[in-house]
Amino acid sequence: MTTEPDKHDASSVGDQTWAVHGGNTIDAGTGAVRTPIVMANSYLLPEDPASMNWSATDALMYTRNGGVNQLALEAKLAALEGGEEAVTFATGVAALHAVFFTLLRSGDHVVVSDVTYEAVWRLFSELLPERYGIDATFVDVSDLDAVRAAIRPNTRIIHAETIANPTTKVADIAALAAVAHEAGALLTVDATFTPPPFYRALPDGADLVVHSLTKYINGHGDAMGGVVVGSSALVDRIRHDALVDVGGVISPFNAWLIMRGSVTLPLRLAQHLASAQRVAHVLEDDPRIAFVAFPGLASHAQHELATRQFGGRGYGGMLAFAVDGDSATQNRFVSNLRIITSAVSLGHDESLVVHVGPDARGGSAGYPEGFRTYGHLRLSVGLEDADDLVADIRSALDRTDITPVRLP
Ligand SMILES: Cc1ncc(COP(=O)(O)O)c(C=O)c1O
Repeated sequence: MTTEPDKHDASSVGDQTWAVHGGNTIDAGTGAVRTPIVMANSYLLPEDPASMNWSATDALMYTRNGGVNQLALEAKLAALEGGEEAVTFATGVAALHAVFFTLLRSGDHVVVSDVTYEAVWRLFSELLPERYGIDATFVDVSDLDAVRAAIRPNTRIIHAETIANPTTKVADIAALAAVAHEAGALLTVDATFTPPPFYRALPDGADLVVHSLTKYINGHGDAMGGVVVGSSALVDRIRHDALVDVGGVISPFNAWLIMRGSVTLPLRLAQHLASAQRVAHVLEDDPRIAFVAFPGLASHAQHELATRQFGGRGYGGMLAFAVDGDSATQNRFVSNLRIITSAVSLGHDESLVVHVGPDARGGSAGYPEGFRTYGHLRLSVGLEDADDLVADIRSALDRTDITPVRLP
């Protein structure tokens, strides 16, 4: 007998069907077939509100505790990621902070990947140790012995990015989860570079997955948001401690935009992954390029792990490279691009490039030689025709006066 598909049950339908229908309900008041934007701070109270818990999140009361659009988005994202529950925030950084704020206290220790998004680096190198007495050890998470050696009796969390921003180092989630759990710690994963259905870290053992929704999941470069997905027990704690009482709530409008943007996530990802692979090969084959970091290249240090972990579906849409020239050469190349835009952020429909100098993080150990010599161009491969992206890169290189780097 064939199973009956139900658009309200993620387990009965495919990823793209869920991306279209997940979390959406027909509006009871108007009959509108898409959840409308509810721009209200407050909801009608029951007849006798006097005994209500004002921090409650189980009934619509106040938008900081939960509003229609954020709850709809959370329902969609929880199932898309394969978790029990999700909680959304105003930005990806707010979501990351919410995890650490909720799970850590003074005297705790965290093992953090030596390559992470800048804000996480600053949280653990400066803000949390200096202000709250939370210690962190930065470790090359591709070296499991080093991770084991960094564990202390008070280690509560191992934190890594599936594909790290910006070096594209790949973390072995199943192996890190085993190390964390053996030590009685949790594995928290920033999966912004690897959204579902491309990859899901929870089935591989991660305890919590964080995304900047600003990136691929919204995908259109017009809204900011963040999400934490995991078990109801952990996510409920984060919702109560870090959402209701710290307050980094997403706006209803942004939640609605991200709900709409995420409708095409699986379709968009297919194009991002295929085009990034093509662009990476083109760059690697060009003698004017000093290095390319992309997990889909055989030259990448974790290429085999990436193939295994991502099941051959692809290797992400992000790459880092440098023209074989000095810093001014990188800038000249970027200014010669006609399709790819020089701007921060990533995972948007349009391709974005950022020139980051070699000293951006003071020669961090986690940065391979090429990054330290040349700096790098971080490229988010967008949804334009891959032929156009390749032509744009080649023609910009042709028009760039290249001043080579004098290696010692
Ligand atoms: C891997 C990663 N995590 C988190 C963030 C932060 O997200 P947001 O800008 O939405 O706060 C970013 C932003 O670039 C990122 O690249």
